Amino acid sequence: MMKPLFTALIAAGAAMAFSVAAQAEADGEAVYNQACMACHMTGAAGAPIKGNKEAWEPRIEKGIDTLYEHSINGFNAMPPKGGNMSLSDEEVQAAVDFMVEAVE
Ligand code: HEC
Repeated sequence: MMKPLFTALIAAGAAMAFSVAAQAEADGEAVYNQACMACHMTGAAGAPIKGNKEAWEPRIEKGIDTLYEHSINGFNAMPPKGGNMSLSDEEVQAAVDFMVEAVE
């Protein structure tokens, strides 16, 4: 008699575990390719180019939290979340990490 409820609970638990894992492992490279590359590969509008140490060093010096904040809320010609408001904060941060790691 308890079995259907039990099965439903396990299914719900598995679904929750899955979405937590998906959040924790936001794929910075995929987000970059989708939402950041247009400017950060070409330097459009003065964007620091991915892999360009000189462009990134003074930015990294501001601290990673500032870079996260500027990417999420915008900074001069840098649009909030690269203009893609459907991205989660975690996804934007993963893309920042991806670009910062490229010059470290
Ligand atoms: C429409 C073009 C455009 C897109 C798309 C874009 N950026 Fe930018 N980004 C810029 C420009 C321009 C700057 C330089 C702003 C400045 O220093 O005045 C910048 C700066 C930055 C900085 C440095 C901020 C600082 O404080 O120095 C980070 C980090 C960053 N972008 C992350 C991202 C991420 C992550 C994405 C994708 C989710 C993204 N950008 C998408 C144009 C863009």
